[in-house]
Amino acid sequence: MRPILIAPSLLAADPASLGEEVRRAGGAGADWLHVDIMDGHFVPNLSFGPAIVAAAKRHTHLPLDVHLMLSHPDRYIEAFARAGAALISVHVEADHDVADTLRRIKRLGCRRGVVLNPDTPFEAAEPFLEDAELVLAMTVYPGFGGQPLISGVLEKCARARSHRSARGLDFDIEVDGGVGVENAADCARAGANVLVAGTSLFAEGDMAERVRRMRAMAEAAVSSG
Ligand code: DX5
Ligand code: ZN
Repeated sequence: MRPILIAPSLLAADPASLGEEVRRAGGAGADWLHVDIMDGHFVPNLSFGPAIVAAAKRHTHLPLDVHLMLSHPDRYIEAFARAGAALISVHVEADHDVADTLRRIKRLGCRRGVVLNPDTPFEAAEPFLEDAELVLAMTVYPGFGGQPLISGVLEKCARARSHRSARGLDFDIEVDGGVGVENAADCARAGANVLVAGTSLFAEGDMAERVRRMRAMAEAAVSSG
């Protein structure tokens, strides 16, 4: 069984206290820190750049899971690799040669993720999965936190899982958007083992307790089949 990994999304953190928020995620027992990068073009919003990734890195040992929502991700991978990304994920819908971008991410020493928007079929990721360590199925339309999870997307996780075992591949399956304690079990049952959660984890109060409960729900769902 793949371990369940919990990845708080920094987008939902208090932007006036980012260092403290990054440490809070580490102290809460998270496994990765998810960092959303938006260019106001691929998605209708702006967020962080490489300087924020480098700053986050100074406050945590958690692997930085950098999700590029950029029209031209290939132009920025080097900057994010230098800033300390452990994993860089790129959308198949963006304007780049996906295979080439993945090759370059590897050469920069980072793990590679392939991202699919909610309406993009699993087949769009298939050609790249031999060269990727992760597939990310967006469970909301990217651009904003706080939206409800689109449950129909979970079938795509199940497709990814069957494809992985049929081909003997070895990638993690991540979900991002609207994930919380209440649907962590559904996500895990569908095949996701990396759960990104912004609003539900960075809310006020005890993040450690929420990370623990999210993990417990997901692990129980997987172990009960
Ligand atoms: C959306 C981002 C998500 C976002 C998730 O475009 O990719 O990572 O932070 O936020 P929640 O968990 O609030 O839906
Ligand atoms: Zn994201």
